[in-house]
Amino acid sequence: MEFSTQSTVSLHRIKSAALAVGVYADGTLTPEAQALDRASQGLITEVVKQDFRGTAGATLTLHRIEGITARRVVLVGLGKAEEYTAAAHAKAERGLAAALSQLSLADAASTLAALPTTNASTLRSRASQAAQAAINAGYRYDATLSKKDDKKTPSGPKKLTLIVARNEAAEAQRGLAEGAAIANGMALTRTLGNLPGNICTPTYLADQAKQLANTYDSIKVQVLERKQIEALKMGSFLSVAKGSAEPPRFIVLHYKPAKAVKAKGKAAQPIVLVGKGITFDAGGISLKPAATMDEMKYDMGGAASVLGTFRAIAELGLEREVVGLIPSCENLPSGTANKPGDVVTSMAGLTIEILNTDAEGRLVLCDALTYAERFKPAAVIDIATLTGACVVALGHVNSGLFSTDDELAQSLLDAGRAAQDPAWRMPLEEAYQEQLKSNFADLANIGGPPAGSVTAACFLSRFTQAYSWAHLDIAGTAWRGGKDKGSTGRPVPLLVHYLLSQQASA
Ligand code: BES
Ligand code: MN
Ligand code: ZN
Repeated sequence: MEFSTQSTVSLHRIKSAALAVGVYADGTLTPEAQALDRASQGLITEVVKQDFRGTAGATLTLHRIEGITARRVVLVGLGKAEEYTAAAHAKAERGLAAALSQLSLADAASTLAALPTTNASTLRSRASQAAQAAINAGYRYDATLSKKDDKKTPSGPKKLTLIVARNEAAEAQRGLAEGAAIANGMALTRTLGNLPGNICTPTYLADQAKQLANTYDSIKVQVLERKQIEALKMGSFLSVAKGSAEPPRFIVLHYKPAKAVKAKGKAAQPIVLVGKGITFDAGGISLKPAATMDEMKYDMGGAASVLGTFRAIAELGLEREVVGLIPSCENLPSGTANKPGDVVTSMAGLTIEILNTDAEGRLVLCDALTYAERFKPAAVIDIATLTGACVVALGHVNSGLFSTDDELAQSLLDAGRAAQDPAWRMPLEEAYQEQLKSNFADLANIGGPPAGSVTAACFLSRFTQAYSWAHLDIAGTAWRGGKDKGSTGRPVPLLVHYLLSQQASA
């Protein structure tokens, strides 16, 4: 999909297959809708009075209005004017994108991004939302369907033009480019998540990483196989992998800006992203119940978000060094699988008593977190579908954010808010460590039912003493279950926003 900007002229003379304008919930027209209303002798007012309520995200498409050059006018509901926040704007963009995706158009023009919101949002971020909504609405999963989308299925507009003031065109273009890169990264994340476990194996994820390195000169990749993982003494990660016939992979991605960035101190050090890459989690010997177990193909959502984020930052040419680490394997029950009570030795040398083989995410992540030390990182952020308890605590709205570093936590919370991909900070105090005590090892891999997502984070924190670290539990946000089952592409928007804010020039 192509994106461009055009400066505000007489709206009624814009040549386009569709032109979108906003209408508030009480029927008040935005200035842009008013302009079209005047050009059409009050037609818009009449329609809004009779046929359209401007609830947020609602749309109505009008055809061939006399006095208006665009072949269609799409009215887009904005909700109440006093509640027209950045989130409401994003919802309106999604509504518009959904309506346009039902048509096949050469082009569409929209005035929505230019409209200010009640909370301070930038045109750059609104343009980004417009591009994301447009690309996300066109996303289709068909990798394992025998019939692919044919030419007859509507594919939305080929081109989207934002109508903005002339002196704001550059800012809008910047936002469109960021939004497109984020959405392209999300599409990769979504497809990897949606692919079944028998296709999306650790080896498949490694091949996807190699493909990114082939596409982008700025990305290098190294894939460690079992022998090399053994040499690193990743005894905790390997203990999970040994229950499956599918070989494990430890994927190392390295993004380096094309031109060396001039930076001093922390800004010169890389940011490390660590993604949980369990391509199927049956629970191991502590087997999960059958209902919805299929959804555990999404247990590589952290890994998929790292790959999606790398795609996005490479497309944008981010000016900051980033390392991606993906420990990937399956968690299955078998004669060679971990057993409750087993004690394993992690790469860090800490021994771990495995009281529940279904708490495998932390077992693979802890060795990756130890491996991260060698990069002398400015910050390490792990992303994991780690606990059902996090879904209980925060539902499907916020990702869980855990960090002992207040500054890092605040940057991530700000990034999530700006990206419309929110996280909520959870506690991470010494007092919870008590629950991880074991009589037979340095620590246990579970802390009992209370505060399950917190003790999981506490476990990880024991391996992150060498650097500043944050953990995102995306168990509730990486995918949706039920009728609309599918990957969401989160938290790629949060991660890309965060990395953009950490550029030397930012
Ligand atoms: N991948 C799961 C977490 C999960 C479960 C995410 C359900 C989304 C929905 C993880 O490996 C797991 O099984 N965690 C256990 C931990 C428990 C045994 C301490 C859980 O949450 O039940
Ligand atoms: Mn599990
Ligand atoms: Zn898991």
